[in-house]
This record gives sequence, structure tokens and C-alpha cells, in this order.
Amino acid sequence: MTTDVFGIIEEMLADIKSADLSDSDSLEQFRRKYLGTKNQVNVLFKEIRNVPNERKKEFGQQVNSIKLEAELKFNQAKSEIEREESKKAVNDLDMSAPAGNEFVGSRHPVSIVMNRLIEVFERIGFTVAEEREIEDDWHNFSAMNTPEDHPARDMQDTFYLKNSVTNLLRTHTSSVQARVMTTQKPPIRIIAPGRVYRNETISARSHCQFHQIEGLYIDENVSFADMKQTLLYFAKEVYGPQTDIRLRPSYFPFTEPSAEMDVWMGTDTETAKKLTKGTGWLEVLGCGMVDPNVLENCGIDSEKYSGFAFGIGIERSAMQKYDISDIRLLFENDSRFLKQFSSVI
Ligand code: DAH
Repeated sequence: MTTDVFGIIEEMLADIKSADLSDSDSLEQFRRKYLGTKNQVNVLFKEIRNVPNERKKEFGQQVNSIKLEAELKFNQAKSEIEREESKKAVNDLDMSAPAGNEFVGSRHPVSIVMNRLIEVFERIGFTVAEEREIEDDWHNFSAMNTPEDHPARDMQDTFYLKNSVTNLLRTHTSSVQARVMTTQKPPIRIIAPGRVYRNETISARSHCQFHQIEGLYIDENVSFADMKQTLLYFAKEVYGPQTDIRLRPSYFPFTEPSAEMDVWMGTDTETAKKLTKGTGWLEVLGCGMVDPNVLENCGIDSEKYSGFAFGIGIERSAMQKYDISDIRLLFENDSRFLKQFSSVI
């Protein structure tokens, strides 16, 4: 009996070594025979009670080696079959078939417009300053000469952080002016692109989040004429070399004098008429000479330095440029909407 058992072991090992496992059927048969729940190796193990004590250890080792051999053989054969199958799959590929419509992603229209404006200002020496979206009351309002009782501070307009009367989501990128002026010395020439938040009812025309680009130029002897020339350059770059601008007197707490800039779109086309409500002029940005109070609040000598600032809303330009009628589309990230911009950089 004992010799029989050892003989069987040898036979099994030989069988394993010589097994032809070149297709998945024979592989499966082999698996059942040596590795499945009812495999023959386990049956053999039961024979241990018939093995004399002094050979039990040797017997155990040999049976284990059958298992190991079988596993090795199985794994090798399996990977070989898989390799062959994937080779075959590649060979079966129809290389002349038209490629599928892979969607490779696209830039968001807001980013496209933002990058374009950044590029225009960088060319004349402005550098990008990026700052926090969670601001404090001082940088967003007080430093910017916005009185305590100004309606913009009202809970209606501003998102305050929970349990806080000082921390808020910035309502404009003008807060970056205060951040930069308190940490850098003039000359200062920055643009600050970024997201801003206002507690407004969401509709096709307005949203509780949107984007702005802030501009700030501080140096000795900076004049209103410098600002006008800079903004004219910007308008011609963005709207074309023939573009005319006009500055309308306006009011912002942080600038004196303040203005709003319109660009001339004309009244020739229906789109221009619609966009400008029939006037031909499209409002593009707010601007002005930095109020001396703002300079002083931020520790800059207003006797020595002067400067101008401006703030441009991005969404409106993007909507106008790509004929988007509902601002909410810009925030939903619906791929059917975004895909339309895949050919634009
Ligand atoms: N912060 C203003 C707003 O959100 C925009 C603005 C106007 C910014 C005039 C300026 C400026 O820097 O000078 O409506």
C-alpha cells in the first residue's frame, strides 16, 4: 500500500509535468483535477493513515509538492493562454476602421475668456495675484473704504461664514487690492482673476457665484489719463482695433473719481442692438482712481503715490462671446454644454 501511494505521487507529478494545457478546456480539466474542491490531491492526503509513521513526514512533503507543481503549471499555462488571446485580439483589430469619437475635454468658456484677458494685461507688465476666496470683513469692505452701513455689507448680499460676523466669501476681487497693498510696496501692477460670491437669487441673468478680474496700478504720478489709455488698449485688444470706449461718471466707495467703461458695439446688427439695449454701448467694467483713504488704510502714502483700479465681470463677456443665454449653464458642468467648446483653446 505504502509503495503504491508513493508510486501514485510519482505518476501524478509526471502527469502534471507532461500535461498539455494549451487551450482553456484542458486548463479547466486540469484545474478540477488538481486544484478544484474535489481534487485528487486531497483524496491522496487521506491515505496518510496508511503510511508508516517514519515516512509520514516525507509523504506530507511530497503531496504538498504535487500541489505546488500543479499551481505553478496552472498559472503558467493560464497566463500563456491569456497572452495568446490578447495577441489574437490585436491581430483581429480592423486597423482601417474609423476611430471612435473620443472626447478629450475642453476649456470652460469662463477660463477661455479669463485667460485671454490675463494675456492682454500681462503683455503690458501686469502680473497675476491670486488670493483667498474666504475673506475677512476688513479686506473685503473696511480697507476698501466701504462704510459700516453700506448696503453691500448687508446679509442680503454677503455670505457670512457660519457663526462669524467677520469672515465671509469675498463679494468682489477688490479684496485682493487690500491684500496686495498691505504686503507689497509700490510700484504695484497686478491683475487678480478669481471667483466671487453674492447672496443673490439665481436666475438666467444672475448667479450667487461668478468671476471677476481686478486690476490695480499704483506708482508715483499715476493719472486718470494713464488709466484711460490702459483701458483703451485693453478694449482694442479684446474687441478689435477700431473699438471706441467711453467713460461714464459713476460711484464706487474705493475710487474717486469713479467711472464705468462702455465699448461701442454699434447698432448695425440685431445682436449688437439686443446686447446694448439699443444704445450701441456695452458696459464692460468699473474703474477709477484709487481713493486716498484706501491707500492710507493699506499703509501707502497717498501724498506720494496715486493709482487706478478696475474690475471686469467675466461671465457677461463669455455669454456675449459665445451667445449663451442663461448664466446657469456656466455652472452646471453639463458635458453636452461643455463639449461645444472643445475646438477653442
Ligand atoms: N468691485 C466692483 C464690483 O464688484 C468692481 C470695481 C469697480 C472694481 C471699480 C474696481 C473699481 O477696482 O475701481 O462691482
